[in-house]
Amino acid sequence: MKKLIDKLEKEQRLSREEFALLLDGLNADTSAYLFERAQAVRNNVYGHQVFMRGLIEFSSFCKNDCYYCGLRLSNRQAERYRLRQDQILSCCAKGYDLGFRTFVLQGGEDPYYSDDKIIDLIGAIKKNHPDCAVTLSIGEMSRQSYQAFYDAGADRYLLRHETINQDHYQKLHPADLTIQNRRRCLQDLKAIGYQVGCGLMVGSPFQTRDNLIDDLLFLKEFDPEMVGIGPFIPHHATPFANEPAGSLVQTLILLAIIRLMLPSVLLPATTALGTIDPTGREKGILAGANVVMPNLSPTDVRSKYLLYDNKICTGDEAAECRVCLEKRIETTGCHLVVDRGDYKKLK
Ligand code: 5AD
Ligand code: FES
Repeated sequence: MKKLIDKLEKEQRLSREEFALLLDGLNADTSAYLFERAQAVRNNVYGHQVFMRGLIEFSSFCKNDCYYCGLRLSNRQAERYRLRQDQILSCCAKGYDLGFRTFVLQGGEDPYYSDDKIIDLIGAIKKNHPDCAVTLSIGEMSRQSYQAFYDAGADRYLLRHETINQDHYQKLHPADLTIQNRRRCLQDLKAIGYQVGCGLMVGSPFQTRDNLIDDLLFLKEFDPEMVGIGPFIPHHATPFANEPAGSLVQTLILLAIIRLMLPSVLLPATTALGTIDPTGREKGILAGANVVMPNLSPTDVRSKYLLYDNKICTGDEAAECRVCLEKRIETTGCHLVVDRGDYKKLK
């Protein structure tokens, strides 16, 4: 096992067969070594810095019907809201005072927000905070829309691929969503010049070990600037209500493998990881993650943006999360920094 881990660190890739040996063979001892190497590689690129992104969940409306997500169109129990531009800007202003230098605008796929509205919003944020990065996470769009948002000043785009295997993709999504279009979106985003994040849920229903290996090989090939990866967690009002959640250990192992494979990738310790384990995010940092994405949404809408059950921090003010996270990160030997946290290209 140690040899395989060393090979992965040195060559930044493994064959399908080697990934299978690694995923099947890791135990408590050898995964401790994996995490140690992942931290070393991260520290080598980014030092002990952890970047924060202020997440603004600006719309809980969604036209899609993904089987795993609590905001799916068919969930009539979901409470829907939209934030106005002035509300979003005041989230940013508050976030700026708390040291955030990246704002992530995330929402369901909500046609109410026309391209013009998004372009206006990006312009307003950039005008108020020219030293901040704007990240969009608003789903599948046309290349023209992506280009227009980029031209308006957006820096980064998050769009998880969810699973690269077509059959698996179709078990998680209705027929109008396809992996082909998801790939097209990711390629367009990259070609336009965004820093792009893809990613997946660990332990999503029907996921096999081979699916995960395909995802790892895809990540190596696509070479994204960011990878969002967290455990699947069931939501009670979805078709996957009774499916088991993804495992903490498997998520940590994948975080560490991704760090060794893509040394300078920006890797969040996700809220979902913090939801399945009280110190999940800290453990994520100890497995090689270097980003946290606390919520800046107004407290009165937080409990309405529920992709999965038992989501943490739905009752906490942004300032409380900031202090809480600072303490949590310190326990890992890392520290939160006031910085845009751009991707660092290695020669
Ligand atoms: N459990 C964990 N993650 C989820 N997401 C959506 N629903 C769930 C769930 N039930 C993730 C998806 C999506 C991101 C915004 O949140 O991967 O891309
Ligand atoms: Fe929100 Fe700890 S990060 S309360």
